Amino acid sequence: MILVFLGPPGAGKGTQAKKLAEDKGFVHISTGDILRDAVRKGTPLGKKAKEYMERGELVPDDLMVALIEEVFPEGRGVVIDGFPRTVPQAEALDRMLSKRGIRVDRAVLFDISDEEVITRLTGRRSCPNCGAVYHMKFNPPRRDEVCNRCGTKLLQREDDREEVVRRRLKVYREQTAPLVDYYRSKGILITLDASRPIEEVYQDLKRLVDEKGN
Ligand code: AP5
Repeated sequence: MILVFLGPPGAGKGTQAKKLAEDKGFVHISTGDILRDAVRKGTPLGKKAKEYMERGELVPDDLMVALIEEVFPEGRGVVIDGFPRTVPQAEALDRMLSKRGIRVDRAVLFDISDEEVITRLTGRRSCPNCGAVYHMKFNPPRRDEVCNRCGTKLLQREDDREEVVRRRLKVYREQTAPLVDYYRSKGILITLDASRPIEEVYQDLKRLVDEKGN
């Protein structure tokens, strides 16, 4: 099964994708995590992506399409979080999958208000070592600002400052929201109310995936 997660920054796509991948044995592809790792390591991709990410803008389509072609696995369930983000990226994904004789089975839209996004992102903390994600109020670590899994000090993402979040929301509305119609017209769009607690959203998501699998 191939799932695409859509929705504004901070809607909970990464949180839900990680849970689903662990539960179902799916491969989780997060283009944001891959890019942040590339920036940290100073790879050629990271050097090209850094300034776009800091400004809250999208990295150019040609770089992103090359990246997804490189990392997409053969023969496994996959949940893609953060790609596609533009109509040309969605078309490139469809072409790539059709060459392999497969297609996107479901596009899941995480629906949430701008106000909730700001609250979530200003309280988010991430582990720079293992990638675990927390929220200081809604999903706090057991020890203050320290990762439960590996004990590393948690960090706040540079692009989670409020002015950058507002820019990311604008970019989402202008460049990514058109994908809602793109997938709706294919009859594979599912909308989740992402403003509910993590477990509630997850139970809905799991039910949808299980229904599709039967
Ligand atoms: P990316 O990392 O993909 O950022 P994003 O889409 O903006 O999404 P986020 O990671 O901010 O949010 P999320 O929805 O995953 O929420 P999370 O689960 O963490 O991309 C970053 C940048 O990379 C982009 O701006 C762009 O520059 C570049 N990029 C990436 N892909 C690209 C592409 N395809 N093309 C071009 N450029 C690309 O949750 C947020 C917080 O809320 C956490 O603290 C969490 O604990 C908490 N939370 C989650 N769910 C709930 C809940 N139900 N209730 C309460 N709190 C919750």
